[in-house]
Amino acid sequence: MKKIIVINGPNLNMLGVREPNIYGSQTLDSINEAIKQYAITKGFECEFYQSNCEGDLVSKIQTVRDEYAGAIINAGAYTHYSLAIKDAIALADKPFVEVHMSNVHAREEFRKTSVISDVCHGSICGFGAGSYILAVKAIAGLIYNLQ
Ligand code: DQA
Repeated sequence: MKKIIVINGPNLNMLGVREPNIYGSQTLDSINEAIKQYAITKGFECEFYQSNCEGDLVSKIQTVRDEYAGAIINAGAYTHYSLAIKDAIALADKPFVEVHMSNVHAREEFRKTSVISDVCHGSICGFGAGSYILAVKAIAGLIYNLQ
């Protein structure tokens, strides 16, 4: 089984209590469990990483190049301005799918800009926890040619 990793950035450890009207009431652990089970059906072993620190996220993203078939990333607010995260994704040379739980295009102006979209294969937003599941499906399409 190929290995993928789901990387979550700042404040996503607070899912469950964080603005539930926007992000829902599921915790990150329960979302990760659902992702893990779905990923198995698509032929992936799934690992998970969350950090609130930009440098730690960069270091983890650097491991994708040698250790994973691809990655799913919700970079949280770093999405909108972290060129260090953008550069780390670019050097991985593996498929990345950008994920947002909320519809970032229907929110504040600053959320409409992503500095990582162009180095990711594609982006999924607006489906709550389902955005991650759709991202697993998307990455299976890229890696195994499974729809
Ligand atoms: C988010 C959207 C970002 O704008 C925000 O900073 C987050 C979460 C989302 O999943 O909808 O932390 O990435």
